[in-house]
Amino acid sequence: MIDPELRKQVPAHVRDDQIVMYDYVSDPRIAKVGDVQLGMHLLHEEAPDVFYSPCNGGFWVVTRLDIMSKILPDTDHFSNKELVIPRIVSDAVMIPLNLDPPEHLQYRMVLMRHFDPKSIRAMEPFIRAWANKLIDKVIAQGHCEFAEEIGAAFPVSVFMELMGYPLDQFEEFRRIVHAFFAPETTPEERVKVQTKILETVAVYFDERRKEPRDDLVSKLLQEKVWDRPLTTDELNSIGFLLFLAGLDTVANTLSFTFNYLAQDQKMQERLGAHPEIIPSFVEEALRRFSIVQQPRLVKADVEINGAQMKAGEMVVCSLPLAGMDDHRNPMPEVFDVDRKDRAHLAFSVGPHTCVGNQLARLEMRILTEEWVRRIPHFWRKAGTEPERRIGGVAALSKLFLEWPKPN
Ligand code: HEM
Repeated sequence: MIDPELRKQVPAHVRDDQIVMYDYVSDPRIAKVGDVQLGMHLLHEEAPDVFYSPCNGGFWVVTRLDIMSKILPDTDHFSNKELVIPRIVSDAVMIPLNLDPPEHLQYRMVLMRHFDPKSIRAMEPFIRAWANKLIDKVIAQGHCEFAEEIGAAFPVSVFMELMGYPLDQFEEFRRIVHAFFAPETTPEERVKVQTKILETVAVYFDERRKEPRDDLVSKLLQEKVWDRPLTTDELNSIGFLLFLAGLDTVANTLSFTFNYLAQDQKMQERLGAHPEIIPSFVEEALRRFSIVQQPRLVKADVEINGAQMKAGEMVVCSLPLAGMDDHRNPMPEVFDVDRKDRAHLAFSVGPHTCVGNQLARLEMRILTEEWVRRIPHFWRKAGTEPERRIGGVAALSKLFLEWPKPN
């Protein structure tokens, strides 16, 4: 029996049996289980495959991979224009993420030309060099706080080098990125940091306009849409999205992955002895520790698995639930590098599939290769427990690792 007060908060077209409490930002299931993805997986038992949560302003939740695979590419019924829960009607546009067809494709191609397999392969030497520089900084001390010192620092370094940003400003960049994503940052502070990011992005487009170099900022300045150059606003919006899309996501996926690896000594030995299985290890990590809850705005009424979704409502495809879907991955809680027919949607699916997915996979592979080669035996510091959060991008912080000090 649904509490009548709760029922009043739910639109009339939602049936009682479709209502389940699920908090997008701090669902109690996570704390109960002490594992973000396993906590979310409880929904597979407790809720219908598509349900309505009255929390966070009210939104639909999809829990199965096959249904997400229909919704995410369906641009006739679902839009990327608004991607915030609770819904905030806003004119701010991150290009290409917030665009729908047909204009989306023109802008996406601008980025795809620089994130194709050949361009990604060419990045391998400097990505490996960065992995080693960061390991150099901590290896002698026999311990580190992985989430900040490695997980966050690594993608920021790679991103700065890729864009051609001055590496002596590394600490400043890390400070900005940290401030933007830190949960304690207030919405007002976040707006200030957002302005700072946009200013920073704009400064380097200006500099490279005068003096081009061999970096992504200079290359983007040469790009065209509909046979005209990108405007300053469009360039800044793309730069801003790259800043947000490729840093926190890689950092958190690495933290979840290394938190697991620190507790599985046999896996450490296996990866050290057989580095050729590291690509499968990365894929299994992306499945088991998927982090993005991907919203869509319903733009035309549609029925999905008996749920009447109305234009203007929000729906969330919780991508961690796709990896944990026991219809597709038997015993999804088990981390199994040898898993057959593994299925996940860590990078979404359809026209907005993550542009940086090959770069993210490469960063994860290289860091794992270099780490297990140089620190073959490590563990989580006794008595410590990382902090975990969900929200749009799930996060794991305060990951204290230890290993024997080299002689
Ligand atoms: C493990 C790391 C990463 C994860 C889990 C991830 C995940 C995602 C997801 C779920 C989307 C949204 C797709 C949608 O709306 O359906 C996305 C979009 C995007 N990502 Fe990533 N991402 C990662 C790393 C990166 C990196 C390294 C870059 C580039 C530097 C990047 C650039 C982008 C861009 C540009 C988009 C927008 C694509 C479009 O709208 O067409 N991402 N990513």
